[in-house]
Amino acid sequence: MKLWKGRFEKEADPKTNDFNSSISFDSRMFKEDIEGSIAHATMLGAQGIISADDAEKLINELKKVREDIESGALLIDPDAEDIHTFVEGELTKRLGDAGKRIHTARSRNDQVALDIRLTLRKECDALVSQIKELASVLCKKAKEHYDTVMPGYTHLQRAQPITFGHHLLAYAEMLLRDVERIKDAKERMNYCPLGSGALAGTTYPLDRNMTASLLGFTAPTANSLDGVADRDFCAEIAFAVSLCMVHLSRLSEEIILWSSWEYKFIELDDAFSTGSSIMPQKKNPDLAELVRGKSGRVFGDLMALLTMMKGLPLAYNKDMQEDKEAIFDAVDTLKMCLTPFVPMVDTMRVIKENMRNAAAKGFINATDCADYLVSHKGLPFRDAYKITGELVALCINKGITLETLPIEEYKNVCEDFDEGVYEAINLEKCVRDRLVYGGPAPENVLKEAKAIEEKLEII
Ligand code: ARG
Repeated sequence: MKLWKGRFEKEADPKTNDFNSSISFDSRMFKEDIEGSIAHATMLGAQGIISADDAEKLINELKKVREDIESGALLIDPDAEDIHTFVEGELTKRLGDAGKRIHTARSRNDQVALDIRLTLRKECDALVSQIKELASVLCKKAKEHYDTVMPGYTHLQRAQPITFGHHLLAYAEMLLRDVERIKDAKERMNYCPLGSGALAGTTYPLDRNMTASLLGFTAPTANSLDGVADRDFCAEIAFAVSLCMVHLSRLSEEIILWSSWEYKFIELDDAFSTGSSIMPQKKNPDLAELVRGKSGRVFGDLMALLTMMKGLPLAYNKDMQEDKEAIFDAVDTLKMCLTPFVPMVDTMRVIKENMRNAAAKGFINATDCADYLVSHKGLPFRDAYKITGELVALCINKGITLETLPIEEYKNVCEDFDEGVYEAINLEKCVRDRLVYGGPAPENVLKEAKAIEEKLEII
């Protein structure tokens, strides 16, 4: 039976009912819906809007309904219009008139605005803890590989020597910002819309501060229209989740490259790889590819939310029911991606020799060679750059490296060179000397990992 049966003469068309209903995706908010109703009933009783006796009955029965749903004794009706209607209907079935009093001074509009906030608050906490776990695994791996030399790339061309630890910590930094973004969004969302009513508040003497504080909110929302019409927080969280997916997707892309035979910088653990149905030799990085692929659907969720809202006049419009599937999908997808991602990164085997061999090719110490002419021989950088360019061309012609180019050849190009150049272009030294704050030197990696770990303790 519909809530609005007084005004209507007919039942809803069954197919229309399915289309209109949100129960298939909002029943996951049953605990939050009940938690909100308990706070509302407590406040109604305290304010004398309903009798103390009715308030107590409502609170006790709401708790029982929650227990019954949790234990499976009460099944959520898939034909109900939404979770709010279902819980209220159940209360009324059990308590009669007292049950009907729960909806005094409340609308489903402020109720749903509350329930999503309560649900997303928990989801934000869950996301934060999973992202922090990944950041801490990256720190652990970075410490293991604080002095593992690898080529750093620009344009996917070997560029300058870095450490693998430094590379991993770049992702840990991104994840720290993801955590902060989600926490910020949660703080901004943490205002209680209950009492906004359908759109225009209510004439009942509600204590909105009381419900807000019972439910752990910073304060009640300050404008009843905004309280029921705002879904900024869904878009904001979806954006924070999208950006985190971008970070996971970039790392996935690197993991996919690194585990190819062309690189072979890492080998994924068997437990986090897949084989091929036809090619016996294959070991595929499916999980990383799926994470990269799933980023698209999360961006789609963000677009759906922004587009759903952009043309809506104040206040509530049914379009807003579309908020839940989008934001829940975004949150669930990130959680689902992080679950295998953390152990996949934790168990990957790093093949240091291949990183070192790749670093030896590609002239990634060419800048250091030029810097040597500047710092040891007093040449202007532009001249040193040109000379080094000639040396690189020479090596390419001969099929050798700067390390193996004889000193005579160096001298032929520029007389200033002496044996000291070999020390200057030694890859380990080149990395060791990149000690500038934020640079890839092994010493820096250890310090940065420690700093991130300390931050993870407090954020
Ligand atoms: N199921 C609805 C939603 O998710 C609840 C609010 C319904 N309010 C209304 N006036 N139809 O948005």
